[in-house]
Amino acid sequence: MSDHSNDSDAEATIYDQASWRDSDRYEPLLSEKNSREVDVETPLPDDLTRDSLELPAVSEPELARHYTRLSQMNYGVESGPFPLGSCTMKYNPKFTEDLAALPAVSVHPDRSAETIQGTLGVYVKLSEYLASIGGMDSVTLQPPAGAAGEYTGVLIAKAYHEHNGDKRTEIIVPDSAHGTNFASAALAGFDVVELPSGEDGRVDLDALSAAISDETALLMLTNPNTLGLFEREIEEIAEMVHEAGGLLYYDGANLNALLGQARPGDMGFDIMHYNVHKTFATPHGGGGPGAGPVGVVEELAEFLPAPRVREGSDGYELFEPAHSIGKVHGFQGNWLVLIKACAYIARLGDEGLTDASAKAVLNANYLAEQIEYEVPFGPFHHEFVASAGEQDAADVAKRMLDYGVHPPTTKWPEIVSEALMTEPTEIENKRTLDQLAAAFNAVAGEAGETLDTAPQRTSAGRIDQVSAARNPRLSWQALDEE
Ligand SMILES: Cc1ncc(COP(=O)(O)O)c(C=O)c1O
Repeated sequence: MSDHSNDSDAEATIYDQASWRDSDRYEPLLSEKNSREVDVETPLPDDLTRDSLELPAVSEPELARHYTRLSQMNYGVESGPFPLGSCTMKYNPKFTEDLAALPAVSVHPDRSAETIQGTLGVYVKLSEYLASIGGMDSVTLQPPAGAAGEYTGVLIAKAYHEHNGDKRTEIIVPDSAHGTNFASAALAGFDVVELPSGEDGRVDLDALSAAISDETALLMLTNPNTLGLFEREIEEIAEMVHEAGGLLYYDGANLNALLGQARPGDMGFDIMHYNVHKTFATPHGGGGPGAGPVGVVEELAEFLPAPRVREGSDGYELFEPAHSIGKVHGFQGNWLVLIKACAYIARLGDEGLTDASAKAVLNANYLAEQIEYEVPFGPFHHEFVASAGEQDAADVAKRMLDYGVHPPTTKWPEIVSEALMTEPTEIENKRTLDQLAAAFNAVAGEAGETLDTAPQRTSAGRIDQVSAARNPRLSWQALDEE
């Protein structure tokens, strides 16, 4: 740690294309190292093809070094701690990859149900595992991400109300919720009613009562919420929503805090999604190629996406629920992601899952005790939100990279000023948590240029985030054309 802090007066390396290419942090493209023109022969029409193509010409060792260098410029959960709050960046055990790579598991999605009975059996098994973990009655594995699960859940709520001849127009979402909750509600055509959090960071029953009306289709809640706080009044909340004829949606992003301890279904939730990448150690999907299964109570099962799988008299078969909202993804979802979640749940079992959750909570509480930043709300479960105080949370995050760790999520939820939303997960041991705390505390004592110009020691320096988001240059050619 002390060698790193000696760098604090090093010159800022603000990322720009020209200086980056000249720096020793730049790894040239393979075609920049060496390339040659290759004649192209193809049966395609001339106007669709070129005569020659420039292709990289490098030796195997050069190729191996290129990719190794690129991998070293990256940071992942296999490089070090990754306490990105709300994202639950768990390590994905390799045995699940081995399993997903088995030829018998990779079946073509177009095969008929009779020829993939084993696969459909695993599909049903995973649905049952998830239903039992969440306290739900039926589960679809189709949605390809948590956010897609939310959208599916909102469509189910909409179909349910419409089926009952009840045209409800509003969805209530707390101000601490993830942006996708607001987006899912709006995308499905609802008006979003934002619920201000109470002084303790939880749902304020008076504010909720004022927000609920006979227009309320759904209340979307994360529990524990994004501050890591358990909604202690969840039973009263459920009663209020149900009495008004609304439904209650559980955003499963924080389910890692509750495994084996409490179930959304028992708290009164009617619909929930599971982020299998957060809770069951599958790769994160980047918004799509993951999985976000959705569970519902019995009354809503008829509205689940089609096709569903069930065990009939001749084995497993596909069927369409009576009032299905239709398809939300191709086939049965991203099967190879789902099988990893299934393997993870089966390997850990009830005891292992309960233990994982307890350790996630213990780790968050241990880490919060070690850091100098204030944590305004508690008691929290698997994550906490510290405040960077007078420092800019984004500067803190960038500087933490210089200390060799991944920073927490920043500036969200907005009810904590300069938020550092931190979730170490159960995978870290005490030594790593101490390393993380040391990085937090080193940054807590810094100010000025050191913070303003960080990071210094990463492969890319300080990135102009606004331009990167508003004017993304998505190809190497686009960079070259400037
Ligand atoms: C609280 C919460 N809800 C929903 C989501 C969306 O999940 P996904 O990334 O799987 O689409 C996230 C993602 O980080 C989240 O933190």
